[in-house]
Amino acid sequence: MRGLTTEEFDAFVDGLDYPMFVVTAYDGAERAGCLVGFATQVSIDPPRFLVCLSRANHTFGVAARADVLAVHALHAADHPLAAHFGGETGDDVDKFADVSWHTGPDGVPLLAELPRRLVGKVAERVPFGDHVGYVLVPIAEHGSARDGAGDPLMLGDVDDVTPGHPA
Ligand SMILES: Cc1cc2nc3c(=O)[nH]c(=O)nc-3n(C[C@H](O)[C@H](O)[C@H](O)COP(=O)(O)O)c2cc1C
Repeated sequence: MRGLTTEEFDAFVDGLDYPMFVVTAYDGAERAGCLVGFATQVSIDPPRFLVCLSRANHTFGVAARADVLAVHALHAADHPLAAHFGGETGDDVDKFADVSWHTGPDGVPLLAELPRRLVGKVAERVPFGDHVGYVLVPIAEHGSARDGAGDPLMLGDVDDVTPGHPA
């Protein structure tokens, strides 16, 4: 039995749509954050959420040293923030210089414009391949679905954003 090639796999995943998030991290010295589509709830009770970070990203190195990550939900009006966190890299720019944020648990940056967010303690890091899965235990919730915020921002809404790093 052979595994699918990436091209064969693409035929299955291409066109599937899913919500987008901004994941942020702080390692005691540096802040980082990037746009993430590989993210999902993986348990109801106990509550668990999974986010997957590309090994290539600047955020990956910071998250590897962090105990806590923040996962910010994006809505229709948040395309500019998605482009900022997904199209720029912390290798070249300070993404937090021109956005409003404050410090959350363990110093993790919380983005003021994205109040629907989940802060999670890293319970497990799972090497999947070019991405590493971070299993999060939610430790604090802030906000909820925003009235008038519109539908979640989906992968199909950000196909004009070129990733700051190739995966
Ligand atoms: C539509 C889209 C989806 C993305 N999904 C992920 C993802 O699930 N995980 C990830 O680590 N990077 C993902 N990225 C890539 C990063 O957001 C992007 O390379 C970013 O510039 C990395 O920033 P950094 O180097 O500061 O961490 C995605 C980018 C785009 C445009």
